[in-house]
Amino acid sequence: MNLNKPILLFNFKAYRQAIGKNALKLAKIIASSGYDNIYLAVQPTDILSIKKIWSNIMAEHVDPVEPGARTGWLTIESIINAGAIGTLINHSEHRMNMDDIKKIIERAKTIKHDFGLDFEVVSCADTVANAEKIAEFKPDAIAIEPPELIGSKISISEAKPELITETILAVSKYEIPVLCGAGINKNNDVAKAIELGARGVLVASAFVKNDDPKKWLNDIISIL
Ligand code: G3P
Repeated sequence: MNLNKPILLFNFKAYRQAIGKNALKLAKIIASSGYDNIYLAVQPTDILSIKKIWSNIMAEHVDPVEPGARTGWLTIESIINAGAIGTLINHSEHRMNMDDIKKIIERAKTIKHDFGLDFEVVSCADTVANAEKIAEFKPDAIAIEPPELIGSKISISEAKPELITETILAVSKYEIPVLCGAGINKNNDVAKAIELGARGVLVASAFVKNDDPKKWLNDIISIL
């Protein structure tokens, strides 16, 4: 991930406004925004089509399995073939156990090494303690998100700034960049998160469910 400027990671989840043709519409807004450090976490079924418009694209989830007899499981190889440059795992809406998180991060590193690919794993965490445990596995970034603020209009940077700073401190020995999310809905929330030391933010509803996502995005970008 490009850490030279703030990262905007938009999680499309499974919102009707952000799947299929609607996902493409949002990707076009992003592509015309003029800000290049935007990553999209999308449904695996949308990777292939969005890739034609925007290259920083991640699968919202991946399973800790190798290719083979794995009906219905999603492998890292499959999403790479579709065009993903990474994955967002262990989201509060799709929690994983520590062993599986570790397996995915290890597999991603092997694949990266064997195929010379750039493939990033961003793991979410809901608490400082879990962020620290996950940091030991060395993901490319950790995203701290308090579940109770997800989808609300109260941002982590306003309501729980200490969660950002404590996470940064807890994972600093592993040198893992920290992103944060939950309730981020205005440019001040982004500015505050960056000021507190986050390398970027995760946003879903404020962008995806916005009546005018283009205007909203321009407003956010204006302060970056
Ligand atoms: O992964 C980002 C997400 O959980 C935050 O959701 O709707 O609060 O921006 P939202």
